[in-house]
Amino acid sequence: MNVHDSEKISGLLDREGLVAADNPRDADVIILNTCSIRAKAEEKFFSMLGRMASIKKRRRGLKIGVTGCVAQQDGEAILKRAPYVDFVIGPQNIHLIGRALKTESVTLGLDDNPFVATLNLPAKRAPGVKAWVNIMYGCNNFCSYCVVPYTRGPERSRPAEDVLAEVRQLAGEGVREVTLLGQNVNSYLTSHSFPQLLAEVAGLDGITRVRFVTSHPKDLSDDLIHVMRDSEAVCEHLHLPLQSGSTRILQLMNRRYSYKQYFERVRRLREILPDISITSDIIAGFPQESNDDHRATLEALSEICFDGIFAFKYSLRPRTKAAELPGHLPESLQAERLAEILQLQDRITETKNHSLEGSLQEVLVEGEAERGPSHLTGRTRTNKVVNLLNHPSIHTGTVLTVRITRGYRHSLEGEPVS
Ligand code: 5AD
Ligand code: SF4
Repeated sequence: MNVHDSEKISGLLDREGLVAADNPRDADVIILNTCSIRAKAEEKFFSMLGRMASIKKRRRGLKIGVTGCVAQQDGEAILKRAPYVDFVIGPQNIHLIGRALKTESVTLGLDDNPFVATLNLPAKRAPGVKAWVNIMYGCNNFCSYCVVPYTRGPERSRPAEDVLAEVRQLAGEGVREVTLLGQNVNSYLTSHSFPQLLAEVAGLDGITRVRFVTSHPKDLSDDLIHVMRDSEAVCEHLHLPLQSGSTRILQLMNRRYSYKQYFERVRRLREILPDISITSDIIAGFPQESNDDHRATLEALSEICFDGIFAFKYSLRPRTKAAELPGHLPESLQAERLAEILQLQDRITETKNHSLEGSLQEVLVEGEAERGPSHLTGRTRTNKVVNLLNHPSIHTGTVLTVRITRGYRHSLEGEPVS
């Protein structure tokens, strides 16, 4: 979501007649688009802001702007702490950036913006065959650890016709894969429900793949699973954050499902879509998490066998309910538990990838592989990275059938089947 916001900020700056500088030292305007999901992201921002200050000392007239969730959260306090910052704009109001460039030191757009979903902001995307498309903004879930409902405000869905028009345009520009974005896409509601919108996007000419993030397990309906099965373009991959394998901790997190209910959704997904890959998010060391709760998470990982996870140490966020819970754990214990979680999942991912050796997979070629220009990289429909060695002449955007020759922990290797 944050990366796509940056693409929109770039689009807005283009509209103002600005061009991208190669280096911050040459820039007339520097905008730091911030994330505050965990304390670490916020700390990174403040240390980068310090570096920008030293550039400003040497470059008169340079404007420094702060956007995103730290801007929303800290507002005026950023200007107090860093008086060299020229403007601060919250994530619901980035359309005000043109105005901010033309005024003196300001905070703008820190209020709730009920119209955020009706703004069709121009996005300047990196060239390629994939694009993100917002379908909704904000979140109403108030998971007890999470800052998003406070920074991005309440849920608002974009009109279906705006989403469809944007995807049609992208298809015309050569985009083949779109990822529909929302904090909780399953609660999308306009003239269309989310499954209806997904089916229509998947039916648009030129779009060969559709993905979506993020789904909340409590709202994952059978209707959606059926659309995933019936719409050819919808990829067999679902990111479904579990957060913890302990129902007691899930309750403290205000996730509104039990582990049993989550597992039942996974069972249903696999019953209807046997080849689906499922990925997840896990939080290690939530307040009051006992050794038994932690074991329950490890057991859940072993039972479900996700294709991959993102795991994080719990991080205290201002204003959230969890911040006030008694029983916060020491960082060293959180780190220990996180390491165990990652180690177990690495083994599971590696075994899963290994088991794909010899299988045929549809791969969308995305471009050059990291290891050099004679190699290509792409992804399977299940969102796994596949490297094609010594095939420099295949065009980006081509869909190939590939036989998997090697499965590694974080990627696969394959050969196109001619
Ligand atoms: N601490 C740790 N992880 C968090 N996440 C959200 N808030 C926090 C927090 N305070 C994680 C969740 C979520 C992902 C986007 O970030 O796992 O699914
Ligand atoms: Fe945060 Fe929960 Fe909303 Fe996701 S669903 S953005 S974790 S409050």
